[in-house]
Amino acid sequence: MSNKMWGGRFASGPDAIMEEINASIGFDQRLFRQDIAGSKAHATMLAASGILTEADRDAILRGLDEVEAEIENGTFKFSRSLEDIHMNVESRLREKIGDAAGRLHTARSRNDQVATDFKLYVRDSLDHLVAQIHTLQLALVIKAEEEAETILPGFTHLQNAQPVTFGHHLLAYVEMLGRDAGRLLDARRRLNENPLGSAALAGTPYPIDRDMTATALGFDRPTANSLDAVSDRDFILETLAASAICAMHLSRFAEEMVIWSSAQFGFIRLSDKFTTGSSIMPQKRNPDAAELVRAKIGRILGALNSLLVVMKGLPLAYSKDMQEDKEVAFDALDALSLSLAAMTGMVSDMVPNREKMHASASAGFSTATDIADWLVRELNIPFRDAHHITGEVVALAESKNCGLEGLTIEDFKTIDSRIDSRIHKVLTVEASVAARKSYGGTAPINVLAQAARWKSTLTGE
Ligand code: ARG
Repeated sequence: MSNKMWGGRFASGPDAIMEEINASIGFDQRLFRQDIAGSKAHATMLAASGILTEADRDAILRGLDEVEAEIENGTFKFSRSLEDIHMNVESRLREKIGDAAGRLHTARSRNDQVATDFKLYVRDSLDHLVAQIHTLQLALVIKAEEEAETILPGFTHLQNAQPVTFGHHLLAYVEMLGRDAGRLLDARRRLNENPLGSAALAGTPYPIDRDMTATALGFDRPTANSLDAVSDRDFILETLAASAICAMHLSRFAEEMVIWSSAQFGFIRLSDKFTTGSSIMPQKRNPDAAELVRAKIGRILGALNSLLVVMKGLPLAYSKDMQEDKEVAFDALDALSLSLAAMTGMVSDMVPNREKMHASASAGFSTATDIADWLVRELNIPFRDAHHITGEVVALAESKNCGLEGLTIEDFKTIDSRIDSRIHKVLTVEASVAARKSYGGTAPINVLAQAARWKSTLTGE
């Protein structure tokens, strides 16, 4: 049997393989709410513009509500021979209200319809992701306040560099996530133009009111070029690019959690809720959630890559290639959402081991820079010379097999006689972090100020 929607000139129906490769209903059914909202706005506008009678409009609106209810409650029967969500919904509408359903597609095509549906879906996802980012940020800010004075070894090259505060480290991710949310909101702003009414590619001869549907669907304005409107997929590419960057940040943090929770580091304990055991090694508590968050970027970057490749070289306007946009995008958006939720749970539940962090931060001569800074500040020695003198101090401590704080004042004087006992007070990790009060520095006082700033931004208080 040829297709009910477009079968007028077809003698036979499609090959089974054709149906399989062509159908998108398996994945685009999740657009049903957006599809029905778009159709309702379109029907309402058609009636207001004198293109559809009020009676037909009312029948369409009522029928669409019923269809939506059927999909919501799981009684709707999706059909692969009807290809996609748009034709499944319209076909069911026709079964319910008869001929009036056939008037819904006036001044519209599936090309502007799918662009509209997908934009509405992505817009909802963006809003949801931004809210999730804010929730994660708040969890980090609360932890950062609790750990404003906790000493953590700060690394460069994963080698002990200078002590930092754990709160400062957590707030670094709050900053990254803030920019991630900003990128997603930028994408939302550019996305928010209504393609509906662009029809197949060239616009329509009917006297439609595109501003009306734009307003009804929460768009800022109609798209200005019909060819662009039906072939634009950069809104999802931009969303995926911003999502990939966010996932990369989560991946870095997840990797730190994996390292920190290992027995060798022991800086944090992840909760039972976010770890798993081993079927053979009874002692194991594996950071699986963190590992999976670390990995999810693969899918998200894969989706971005895949869709860029699909889109490159496509002539204007719509080509069926573009149907490949949805599966990967859905998967990527789901992955990011799940990662954010898992990360929020892990952060809220994690318990830092302050003693271990402190001991590790004190090892490796981590306050050597403070000695050099003291020589500059108190003795007016040029930094390069101070660096050299401090290097000798470190070598001495190493040869005596002690930390910097284990050196006596006589030890210091064998290297430079100008050094006096005041040097001792800069050798502790606490003094080191407290001294770094420069704007953006790690001092506890800064952490508390930045945490307070973020808290009021995030809670709107
Ligand atoms: N399922 C299609 C998609 O996702 C809808 C648009 C189909 N348009 C067409 N002319 N075949 O892209």
